Amino acid sequence: MTTEKLYFYPVWLRVWHGFNALGILVLIVTGISMQWSIDSPLINFSLAVKLHNIAGVVVSIGYLLFFAGNLFTVNGKFYRVKPKGLGKRLVRQARYYLCGMFKNEEPPFPLSEKRKFNPLQKYSYILVMYLLMPLVVITGLALLFPELIIEEVYHLSGIFLTAVFHSALGFLISIFLIVHLYVASIGKNPLKNYRSIVTGWHEINH
Ligand code: HEM
Repeated sequence: MTTEKLYFYPVWLRVWHGFNALGILVLIVTGISMQWSIDSPLINFSLAVKLHNIAGVVVSIGYLLFFAGNLFTVNGKFYRVKPKGLGKRLVRQARYYLCGMFKNEEPPFPLSEKRKFNPLQKYSYILVMYLLMPLVVITGLALLFPELIIEEVYHLSGIFLTAVFHSALGFLISIFLIVHLYVASIGKNPLKNYRSIVTGWHEINH
């Protein structure tokens, strides 16, 4: 058996990912605490608001780094949408996750220099990074500067609607994170991918 080492995660991507992962964890914990106004001894309401604002700004600036990195470096090519045969590719990968991997089958889309993500991984990253994240950042910044928000929409407060939308997006991103952590642990060694996102190197055994 030979081991091939691929440099999947350049420094800028790892720096972004680290700040983003930590920031989102803080946002989830403080967000839940604000949502239910839980004034626990661990994190009181006003501290939760302050931390949420700071982590929100860090994640928003980080998002600009991710966006620029994918715009100006080769990493962007892994995020290009290829509609032809997409449905079939997604079904094949889903079948592998639901059944094939438990029968020790080979993955249908083995990773290589040209393919960093399997189809489900790729399109979930596209959905989160190019739809949910921009929307959560924009609504979050709007709530930080509420004077920018339209006062009323169909007799409902604009701030209220923005807050509901922002929380729903936060909920979806939390669900993504749980699935992301589980899927990243799939493989012969559950810690392998976690090591890769820290060192930058992904190992493939042939
Ligand atoms: C504790 C938190 C997190 C951990 C431990 C973690 C872990 C990982 C690991 C192991 C990888 C590399 C393997 C793979 O591509 O699946 C990865 C990549 C990635 N993660 Fe996370 N993640 C975390 C949080 C997040 C969050 C909150 C987001 C987005 C909202 C995110 C978005 C991504 C993206 C887009 C990639 C691929 C980057 C690229 O190669 O272009 N991660 N993460």
